[in-house]
Amino acid sequence: MTRKTVPDLLRMKADSQKIVMVTAYDYAMARLVDTAGVDMVLVGDSVGMVVQGHQDTLSVSVEDMIYHGRCVSRGLQQAHLTVDMPFMSYQVSPAQALENAGRLVREGRAQSVKLEGGRRSAAAISMIVEAGIPVVGHVGLTPQSVHAMGGFKVQGRGQEAADRIMQDALAVQDAGAFCVVLEMVPEDVAAGITEALEVPTIGIGAGVGCDGQVLVCNDLLGMDLSFHPRFVKRYAQLEETILEAMRDYAREVRSSAFPAPEHSFRRKSAAQLRRVY
Ligand code: KIV
Repeated sequence: MTRKTVPDLLRMKADSQKIVMVTAYDYAMARLVDTAGVDMVLVGDSVGMVVQGHQDTLSVSVEDMIYHGRCVSRGLQQAHLTVDMPFMSYQVSPAQALENAGRLVREGRAQSVKLEGGRRSAAAISMIVEAGIPVVGHVGLTPQSVHAMGGFKVQGRGQEAADRIMQDALAVQDAGAFCVVLEMVPEDVAAGITEALEVPTIGIGAGVGCDGQVLVCNDLLGMDLSFHPRFVKRYAQLEETILEAMRDYAREVRSSAFPAPEHSFRRKSAAQLRRVY
């Protein structure tokens, strides 16, 4: 089986086939989402919040992304692997962006890299694409700018702001990105951008008019039931399932119900030992 490529994903837009993207951060989850048949797996810098427990994505390093990219890559047979460029790994200069994108491909096993920002990131995107590394853009809410944006808020509600997001999406496409993530923008704005772009859009909190959708795997699986933003649909309640399993395990260890004889090993009988020697 071969991994989905950039031409495969571009063809999906041309054929009006929705693109399914989900995040994963380790081998175990990557194997499962790949077996389920998703098209693209994103090692998001959301790893900083979901796996590392930070309040935002800002402390994630290139080394973190390489480590998680390698783990996820080993679990994929058919899905395309995109790895996020973390905060301050591409903003300094296009040359810095290219160097780090190259590391994510060579060391992190990425097939493409994703970076945030529209017009402000166009020069970095061009340089990476010219070196033969496919780029996914990311406009609308860009979590690495959380302090400038004043929180994780919907972007593009007013006409001027909506126009700016459209200009950003077009700039990212013109710079050579093969795909653009639209995060937390009104559905009509996202649908208009999707119509205007030749490359696919992948929405998160951007309505059904995008060419595909992405969710954080922990959110769609209900791993933290205290976190439920409007744009997340939970397809499972794994927090409850995991808590129940862990409590059962703890109870059985404390009562000596586990391990039972079928989980234990016995020494060879005297008769078996005589046969061996
Ligand atoms: O880091 C991430 O998981 C992302 C997605 C939410 C698009 O960028």
